[in-house]
Amino acid sequence: MSIFSWLAEVKLPEPLADAAAIALTDVRKVYVTAAGEFEALRGIDLRVSAGEFVAVVGKSGSGKSTLINMIAGIDRPTGGEVWVAGTPVHTLNENQIAVWRGRTVGVVFQFFQLLPTLTALENVMIPMDFCNVYNRAERPERALALLEMVGVADQADKLPASLSGGQQQRVAIARSLANDPPLLVADEPTGNLDAHTAASVIDLFSELARGGKTILMVTHDLDLARQGSRILTVADGRIESSAPADGPAP
Ligand SMILES: Nc1ncnc2c1ncn2[C@@H]1O[C@H](COP(=O)(O)OP(=O)(O)OP(=O)(O)O)[C@@H](O)[C@H]1O
Ligand SMILES: [Mg+2]
Repeated sequence: MSIFSWLAEVKLPEPLADAAAIALTDVRKVYVTAAGEFEALRGIDLRVSAGEFVAVVGKSGSGKSTLINMIAGIDRPTGGEVWVAGTPVHTLNENQIAVWRGRTVGVVFQFFQLLPTLTALENVMIPMDFCNVYNRAERPERALALLEMVGVADQADKLPASLSGGQQQRVAIARSLANDPPLLVADEPTGNLDAHTAASVIDLFSELARGGKTILMVTHDLDLARQGSRILTVADGRIESSAPADGPAP
């Protein structure tokens, strides 16, 4: 019996067949603050196909994090529709979103967000315990295989504090892949890494996209953004442009 066993009761709608990896229609987000209402997203329409590596760029405060948080189900739209791989994320309740996200979206953060008292291997196993997609018996082996894939299998038994930033981010990427989600969302994943390490993390994302994962990555670094397949520029809560990058074609 897992502490997460209540999740088994949560039912999700059957995804539509042949749907886009991501489809947003007129997505709006209004934040209500003491100073009044602020419209962070002002009508976003977006379609992304499976295997695209989309770099999201734009000035600070333009709405990049708000946008990807809508797609990852971390935050909810005030209006409009968010479909991910045929699931209407905007219609799910909180429990459904938790279960759906665990299976469907890998999330990578700027500051890694590894649990400090767990080893690298145990960190990678957490989403597996949460979602029960893989049998308990196969989890350690799968976690080790993922650490191997991102090049840090030799760090499996160490605590995050004894790893370098680049190694921690690799562990975090392995964790994001734990349940083999079709979508990876990363908010400035290289913001805390040196240029060389950042480039190797981007290479890893490119490889994952070539393997069919859809990747959305916020970055302030235009050189890194160009390594993706598409550059999406956000300005003032709207998509200002969406253009092919020089990177691998989807
Ligand atoms: N929880 C919140 N409550 C109120 N306003 C918010 C909230 N989250 C974001 N905002 C506002 O919405 C706008 C967009 O924020 P967002 O975090 O999406 O920007 P960003 O493009 O990711 O910026 P940065 O590059 O600095 O991370 C900003 O003006 C921000 O102040
Ligand atoms: Mg942000």
